[in-house]
Amino acid sequence: VIFENSAQASKNVAQEIAELIRSKQANNESCVLGLATGSSPIKVYEELVRMHKEEDLSFSNVITFNLDEYYPMTKESRQSYHYFMHQHLFNHIDIKPENVNIPDGTIALEQLNQYCIDYEMKIKQAGGLDFQLLGIGRTGHVGFNEPGSHINSGTRIITLDHITRVDASSDFNGIDNVPKRAITMGVSTIMRSKRIVLMAWGQNKADIIKRTIQGDVSSEVPATFLQNHPNATFVLDQSAASEL
Ligand code: GLP
Repeated sequence: VIFENSAQASKNVAQEIAELIRSKQANNESCVLGLATGSSPIKVYEELVRMHKEEDLSFSNVITFNLDEYYPMTKESRQSYHYFMHQHLFNHIDIKPENVNIPDGTIALEQLNQYCIDYEMKIKQAGGLDFQLLGIGRTGHVGFNEPGSHINSGTRIITLDHITRVDASSDFNGIDNVPKRAITMGVSTIMRSKRIVLMAWGQNKADIIKRTIQGDVSSEVPATFLQNHPNATFVLDQSAASEL
């Protein structure tokens, strides 16, 4: 779906999420959201906060699982996805703190395998993801599933692609400060979501969007796996769609 601009597109995505939350509430069910960081979802979170404040949208039945976190990374760090999510969303809504799940970048290396298995288990126990929000990296990564990620991959620690670290370098004041690794949900974790919305804005995503939507399905561009998801939508602005 191609929108005139990212503001309109983001409102539309936020509206879908709000409707899902409300329909689950009406049935006394919890709503399990997979959430993303980066610049792409910021306006969606702004709109959800506005709906909470102005339209009584409650997040009391919402459980969230974030896609990824740099490793190692403290929660308090300005660059952490933990900080990002609280600043843009969680601090402004009525979600229960115990319902917020973000991969923990402070787990000791030797405990990480078990931690990742437990993260997957928690998603399952919550009933699975009802909705997964995604951005896309210029490498074709979703979450931090870099090129080479297997369709069956689960939550794990990965090595970041050089391009991804270059793109993050302005946030970290130079590439040398960008962590070399991250914890990420896997491709299979994402693909099991009942609904997926991937958002991309701007000209510098146009090339990877073309490869993702029109290219062959391959772990070289992990986002191409979404072509085989039964309920995934790519939400684009005109610039990101300009090479289709
Ligand atoms: C990071 C995140 C991804 C995100 C990507 C694109 O690598 N781990 O989940 O999709 O950045 O970021 P942006 O939305 O800022 O372009």
